[in-house]
Amino acid sequence: MGGKIRDKFIKLYTMLTGYFNYHSINEENYACMAMQHDNAFDAFKELLQEVRPSQILEVGTAGGGTTLFLREYLNEIGLNDTRILSLDVVEQEWTNGLRERDITVDTDNVFDYSTNTLIRPDDIVPFIQREGTTIVLCDGGNKISEFITLSPYLKIGDIIMAHDYVDTVENFHENFVDKIWNWREIGDEHITEAVIQNNLEPFMQNLFTNVVWVCKVKRQNG
Ligand SMILES: C[S@@+](CC[C@H](N)C(=O)[O-])C[C@H]1O[C@@H](n2cnc3c(N)ncnc32)[C@H](O)[C@@H]1O
Repeated sequence: MGGKIRDKFIKLYTMLTGYFNYHSINEENYACMAMQHDNAFDAFKELLQEVRPSQILEVGTAGGGTTLFLREYLNEIGLNDTRILSLDVVEQEWTNGLRERDITVDTDNVFDYSTNTLIRPDDIVPFIQREGTTIVLCDGGNKISEFITLSPYLKIGDIIMAHDYVDTVENFHENFVDKIWNWREIGDEHITEAVIQNNLEPFMQNLFTNVVWVCKVKRQNG
């Protein structure tokens, strides 16, 4: 298949299914599934270059494609020391493969989604509060609860993001369904309170709107 036709096919396939295979840039024949818009990683590249995080907490490892992309791109821009802690509740056949590639994967649940609290705060809060900028990615089983639960622990300058976000239901139906992305699990109506309480402001949002992520930075109070 020609390059352009192949790209169009991948775009359509990803729009219909919600995932694509991320192929390792270092290892031939190593690929992991990423449940993302096909342009999402271009946006993440810009974010990682700008923020140069010291650690990333990812909620929702799933196929590991996003996790592997993050590890490989961090290394590519010289951030080999940036730690990635990825959370899921299912141990998969590929989970150890991620662990062998300098990614910590923890599959013991840390969330109580019913009360928006952490069951194992000691395993998560100190990680977010390590020195340097932390990026928190909410893409697990309940993105609203993950955003509300984790945002109070951010330091000034830390970033919190959540996937399958479109600001309003109206915008989702008018501009996203069957055009960009067919899944909306979080919107402004779910996070406004947490955004105000934790002094979060939009960060590089223009880059992420069409790849259905919300992106906020924690600012100083007052
Ligand atoms: C939408 S998928 C994640 C997609 C992935 N981030 C990507 O970019 O390819 C959601 C994942 O969240 C996981 N999950 C469900 N409950 C969870 C929990 N309490 N903590 C962490 N992950 C959870 C599911 O097992 C599933 O693998």
